Amino acid sequence: MKEITISTKIKVYESAKELPGEYQKLLKSARAAVNHAYAPYSNFRVGSAVLLDNGSIVQGANLENAAYSMCICAERTALGNAAMQYPGTVVKAIAVTVQSQKKEIGQPASPCGACRQVISETEDRQQQDIAIIMQGSEGAIYVLESGKGLLPIGFHGGFL
Ligand code: THU
Repeated sequence: MKEITISTKIKVYESAKELPGEYQKLLKSARAAVNHAYAPYSNFRVGSAVLLDNGSIVQGANLENAAYSMCICAERTALGNAAMQYPGTVVKAIAVTVQSQKKEIGQPASPCGACRQVISETEDRQQQDIAIIMQGSEGAIYVLESGKGLLPIGFHGGFL
């Protein structure tokens, strides 16, 4: 028997002012995207924004549906938008943030499992990591260098 330890490095910033300039702008854009969320069922509005290597920023927000399983997350909306608006352009970073009508969310808004899978495949496809910037409605900001840090031992196309 042997053991494997998997670790993920997370940079923790106390406020957006401490972030590198391009991430500040990206997080601000993700926060603005919250206003485009359609979340009448959860009242949990998620905003996302992706930074492309041509300098463009593309937003996404969650889009809910009365048939709950049809809900689309903000991160996948943003990645889909980017893939259509700028085909073949490398995604450098993705920011995620939230706003709940019920309470302030002090902990960073972490992408769900499905979004992690899609971020991971986007990295594989473009052969370049995607930095993840996450913040709740307030509080500390987490920055990871790669989506793989959120999805160790993930499923990928190499299995097929
Ligand atoms: N949601 C996202 O947009 N991104 C995530 O990574 C987690 C969850 C949305 C889906 C749903 O509209 C609402 O948040 C509550 O789950």
